Amino acid sequence: MVPRPGAPTDLCCRHEPPGRASVTRCECETLDREFDEEAAQAEVEHYQRNGPDRTTRMLIDLIIAAGVRDAELLDIGGGIGAVQHALLAAGASRAVGVDASSAYLNAARQEAERRDLDGRISQVHGDFLVLAPETAAAEIVTLDRVVCCYGDMGALVSRSARKARRLYGLVVPRDTWWMRLAAAAYAAVGRLTRNRYRFYVHRLRSIDAILRREGLRPLSARRTMTWHVLVYERPGATPAGR
Ligand SMILES: C[S@@+](CC[C@H](N)C(=O)[O-])C[C@H]1O[C@@H](n2cnc3c(N)ncnc32)[C@H](O)[C@@H]1O
Repeated sequence: MVPRPGAPTDLCCRHEPPGRASVTRCECETLDREFDEEAAQAEVEHYQRNGPDRTTRMLIDLIIAAGVRDAELLDIGGGIGAVQHALLAAGASRAVGVDASSAYLNAARQEAERRDLDGRISQVHGDFLVLAPETAAAEIVTLDRVVCCYGDMGALVSRSARKARRLYGLVVPRDTWWMRLAAAAYAAVGRLTRNRYRFYVHRLRSIDAILRREGLRPLSARRTMTWHVLVYERPGATPAGR
């Protein structure tokens, strides 16, 4: 699927054909509710004042260091589009953003217009796992603080990794006791308030094993108290700009 730049395509929770087991996997409605207009507006204001968050900046820097000239980007769960803007400004050719939150996608579209980048960015609304079969591969794939929003880490990581022709960048919570405690507290509040959204701390070792199985190898990494910023590469892949 190659959507028209600038025009959001709405495919949230579109069910797969009968017989496919993954219909119940769609967490799109929960994500759409969690990342609502209020959250998107707050993100945009923060971004316009301060630029990308610290770990997003780290991810951007690591990917730019690995080369982005003329590359196409697939940004899954890109929120308001900070990674897309930075990589396009650094020489990437175009970007596709796939996000389950319609509010974030609307904010991303407006922000792209404001930066005169809307002609190079396509936005698709939906759960990446549902959209994966018709989503084109890209030289660079990013998931910035996305895997921690999704229960089926194995499917999200493996299917997104298959789309990465050269680089795969992700930001995930560190699997430390304090992050597990934060996730448990979040879940307890969610149960009380009947909010089905969860913050997941998936095992880094499992994520790494899946990425290696998909043919990727670690290239660079940074770490903060709470997050891992990781970039993997596909050995032998040639950058578009060479
Ligand atoms: C915590 S926000 C992060 C936004 C942005 N990447 C950032 O770091 O500021 C997580 C985003 O991932 C999206 N998301 C999570 N799982 C997704 C999936 N399976 N398919 C598409 N979007 C997803 C959510 O809708 C949300 O916009």
